[in-house]
Amino acid sequence: MAVEEGKDLGVTLRINPSRLFPLRLLQFFLVFLALGLGLSVFSMFTVRYLKVQNFVPVTQTILEQLPVKHCYEEPHSLESWIRPPSKLMHTMNDSELLWRASLAPRIKTYPFKRVPKIAFMFLTKGPLPMAPLWERFFKGHEGLYSIYVHSMPSYEPHFPPSSVFYQRQIPSQVAEWGRMSMCTAERRLLANALLDISNEWFILLSEACIPLNNFSIVYRYISRSRYSFMGSFDEDGPYGRGRYNENMAPKVNLSDWRKGSQWFEINRMLAVRIVEDTTYFPKFNEFCTPACYVDEHYFQTMLSIETPHLLANRTLTYVDWSRGGAHPATFGKNDIKKEFFKKISESKTCLYNNQPTTLCYLFARKFAPSALEPLLELASDVLGIS
Ligand SMILES: *[C@@H]1O[C@H](CO)[C@@H](O)[C@H](O)[C@H]1NC(C)=O
Ligand SMILES: *[C@@H]1O[C@H](CO)[C@@H](O)[C@H](O)[C@H]1NC(C)=O
Ligand SMILES: *[C@@H]1O[C@H](CO)[C@@H](O)[C@H](O)[C@H]1NC(C)=O
Ligand SMILES: *[C@@H]1O[C@H](CO)[C@@H](O)[C@H](O)[C@H]1NC(C)=O
Repeated sequence: MAVEEGKDLGVTLRINPSRLFPLRLLQFFLVFLALGLGLSVFSMFTVRYLKVQNFVPVTQTILEQLPVKHCYEEPHSLESWIRPPSKLMHTMNDSELLWRASLAPRIKTYPFKRVPKIAFMFLTKGPLPMAPLWERFFKGHEGLYSIYVHSMPSYEPHFPPSSVFYQRQIPSQVAEWGRMSMCTAERRLLANALLDISNEWFILLSEACIPLNNFSIVYRYISRSRYSFMGSFDEDGPYGRGRYNENMAPKVNLSDWRKGSQWFEINRMLAVRIVEDTTYFPKFNEFCTPACYVDEHYFQTMLSIETPHLLANRTLTYVDWSRGGAHPATFGKNDIKKEFFKKISESKTCLYNNQPTTLCYLFARKFAPSALEPLLELASDVLGIS
């Protein structure tokens, strides 16, 4: 301040060397005097107050203290702990990511207003041909969902900033069908989604999946369910118990062995269980290799051992195996009729919170890109998506 004032004064003096000169000079000296006096009083006071023992000049001590003090004064409000990462891309490797994601609060009530969100996790090869349908599905429900996309690392997405998929890609690695790399990719999706403390439910979807209902119905169904939707059953024969390997005992016994759809919906607690698992992972990694399709057994078996009472033991994703073979039916342009959806909704009854219901599926697969156009046409009429 004093230096600035001095400069101003100098300028004034040169521009206007009038009779004000002696008065200005006097003012200048007075200010200087007052400043010097003030500084020395301040110094004395500081020395006494801080009980400075050594001979380091006070001004130097203060200057040295300033930057350090600023570091410690960085505000750490709760906000900085609960704010989700602004960018999904990060430099953590899988060990670091899983560790970070496994950190969970032990106090169960949140001391802030937390609106629980659904994390929609898309496990894809590359493009999302059904994106326009999903855009309509999500529209108007901001704040109640988050989106995560895992694709082949070589794939470069081109979503416009207006898209719900814009910059929602997570660091990805190659995932092979029926192999552990598939489960690793799913854990990676879960771990990334867990970094947002507001995500309460986690749904795994593929690029060939579509919603069968509107967002309101999906949110209500999932948020009010007492159970998580992990398909899980005990099946005899070569495709069920036949895939079990005795080397997994005693951590996994034959009676614990489960099979189920890869496409799940689980709550946050189960997501943490999957991310933190170091008990079952090595067993499945070593002893469940093709023709044991690990994505049909690992999470299903693990959660059936650890938290059986939290599982609905059924999936929310409809699929048609009736055509036989290793892959389910793919639906194209000509399959998409009103009757097709009627058939799905009447295909079975199931339990929801222990009560029978016909609303068993919220999603369906597999749909070819050619199905998009008729799906968009039927969306408001049949799927309730405006
Ligand atoms: C991740 O990085 C840490 C530290 O460099 C290393 O110890 C760990 O093995 C890495 N994990 C993976 C999966 O690469
Ligand atoms: C498997 O069986 C062994 C021996 O009966 C038992 O000690 C172990 O707890 C069982 N494992 C599980 C996961 O139940
Ligand atoms: C799901 O199956 C487990 C056994 O694996 C069972 O304990 C649990 O009660 C079942 N869940 C429901 C909702 O029936
Ligand atoms: C969602 O679908 C249900 C049933 O189809 C319908 O009653 C409801 O109005 C729809 N909600 C919105 C927001 O479109």
